[in-house]
Amino acid sequence: MSFDRSIKIAPSILSADFANFGQEIQAIESQGADWVHIDVMDGHFVPNLTFGPMAVKAFRPHVKTVMDVHLMIAPVDPYIDAYADAGADVLTAHIEAGPHIHRTLQAIRAAGMKAGVALNPGTPAEAVAHLLDLTDLICVMTVNPGFGGQKFIDMTSKIRSLRSMIGDRPVHIEIDGGVDPSTAPLVAEAGADVLVAGSAVFKGGSVNDPDVYGANIRNIRDTANGVWA
Ligand code: DX5
Ligand code: ZN
Repeated sequence: MSFDRSIKIAPSILSADFANFGQEIQAIESQGADWVHIDVMDGHFVPNLTFGPMAVKAFRPHVKTVMDVHLMIAPVDPYIDAYADAGADVLTAHIEAGPHIHRTLQAIRAAGMKAGVALNPGTPAEAVAHLLDLTDLICVMTVNPGFGGQKFIDMTSKIRSLRSMIGDRPVHIEIDGGVDPSTAPLVAEAGADVLVAGSAVFKGGSVNDPDVYGANIRNIRDTANGVWA
């Protein structure tokens, strides 16, 4: 089966109503989300605190697509089994979170999940040169991690480098931070296929008015696919 490099939209529930995650997840999936992006922050690796494996486990029954868990925590290894138990499909660790990413990626796969590695804006593409056969996804941060609603940082040259380094390997390039209908075409053209979007998906909508989520998701997908140049 050929690897699916089509554009996929992964709304980040960091911009959802924290008091209503179950319904918010159902709403974005009913409105066309391809994956559900879950930002785990420990208040240490990043200056913000969100939720841990127990909350992620509670989200699982509501996610019918792909549960894409982005760990902004350090260390990572002690928590891998807990996120496998929580039902993560993709578990992404930051390369900056510790000295042993080569081992961490293998441990994530050994626990039955797809392994992802995330790069902060300051980390070059070359940092993953020896990890390409150990990873299923490379997350290129286009903001400094920790908050939603930040301004997009142009990483298109890094995305192009990664796209050529990956070659035919079945590795997704995920973009995270400041993705909206104006930035989506830039990153898609450079070679990305998974577009995380928080504020650009949830703005103006709610579980009582999910059509707005659908319109926002379609706008991002259409511009990424060059339908609206
Ligand atoms: C930031 C998170 C992102 C964030 C994206 O550290 O990793 O996933 O929620 O939000 P927007 O799309 O609003 O930049
Ligand atoms: Zn994220």
